[in-house]
Amino acid sequence: MVIKLKIPTIPITEIEQSAFCQTDEELASKTLAEEFSAGVRWQKLPVEYMRMSPEELRQRITSARAKLGDTAVILGHHYQRDEIIEFADVRGDSFKLSQYAATQGQSQHIIFCGVHFMAETANILSEPHQKVILPNITAGCSMADMAQIDDVMDCWDDLERVLGDKGGVVPITYMNSTAAIKALCGRNNGIVCTSSNAPATFDWAFERGQRVLFLPDQHLGRNTAVKMGIGVDEMVVWNPFKELGGHTEEELINAKMILWQGHCSVHTRFTVDQIEKARETYPDIHVVVHPECTMEVVNAADSHGSTEYILKTISEAPAGSKFAVGTEVSLVNRIAAENPDKTVFCLDPVVCPCSTMYRIHPAYLSWVLDGLNEGVVVNEITVPDDIAEQAKIALDRMLAIV
Ligand code: 13P
Ligand code: SF4
Repeated sequence: MVIKLKIPTIPITEIEQSAFCQTDEELASKTLAEEFSAGVRWQKLPVEYMRMSPEELRQRITSARAKLGDTAVILGHHYQRDEIIEFADVRGDSFKLSQYAATQGQSQHIIFCGVHFMAETANILSEPHQKVILPNITAGCSMADMAQIDDVMDCWDDLERVLGDKGGVVPITYMNSTAAIKALCGRNNGIVCTSSNAPATFDWAFERGQRVLFLPDQHLGRNTAVKMGIGVDEMVVWNPFKELGGHTEEELINAKMILWQGHCSVHTRFTVDQIEKARETYPDIHVVVHPECTMEVVNAADSHGSTEYILKTISEAPAGSKFAVGTEVSLVNRIAAENPDKTVFCLDPVVCPCSTMYRIHPAYLSWVLDGLNEGVVVNEITVPDDIAEQAKIALDRMLAIV
């Protein structure tokens, strides 16, 4: 049996944004009932799961997982809680996990412990007999939500009208976007990129057009363009709430990069001031940040790259190295624990987990695994065939060049 549902978008409230921020405490999961009392609104699930202690859940997940054997595979994004990562068959960045999902033809069920756009991508790249499950259906991505397909289609129509005969525009969308936006790129000679391959996709785009529309993260777009020698005076930011994105036709004609006005609220918390403080305390520190940080922060850092890049950079460094890291705290804490011979800390002293990644509480994992053992598929993520087909074109273009 498959339970079909309408996907609700539950925006992150001010309360949820800061509900799990911490300064010196460990980020350990509590019962789901206790976490709900912090004022969050997540997916409802049977009440028995709400009250289970973290240890009960661990035992229950362990036995349900064992029963499923290799009919199921559990994928864990690096930003997931430790209590989820311990059950992941593979962990990685969004690109690595989607690629991995595409090779797991023997597993009937792919349980994606990450966020909605990642599960959608896994559905597009996996085989028809496989079902992709997102344990908590409300685990979206606030950045992906900043680019709604209707607004992007309006933008695209405006750009075609203004720029039509003045040099083509190639759409590039970051993996952190809905399948509908990936499909728009697929049918308009565009491509998908990730935080690890954005420069290669920019080369691809500039071989085919004179300018790029980059969705939905203005910071990844700007940081990549600057790295490739494009000046900030050649870029405009498209505000979807303003006529022509807030620009004159002339400004659009002169622009090489049109950056969608989207951002990640986790990564825009990092500041140059934090980097300076880290350098004052540890003169030999290496500052490594995610490219979703602002341009000022990326420029002030020593290196930048995807979550997988950050993990690899620190893991492969010699003992005694020191790292200040600008990315989500669950990953930073895990890297610190796994590298006790190095100094590893988060740039921001008040650290907040990604609120939507955090919505995957172990109770949800337990619930979906129990469901599978009873023949019930809970929270299946599917992309309509026409959208999946067009989105796959844009994904395949990316896979062909990296
Ligand atoms: P990665 O692709 O680097 O894992 O990043 C995904 C993400 O959501 C970062 O905020
Ligand atoms: Fe989205 Fe930012 Fe969370 Fe990544 S860290 S999933 S971009 S909200």
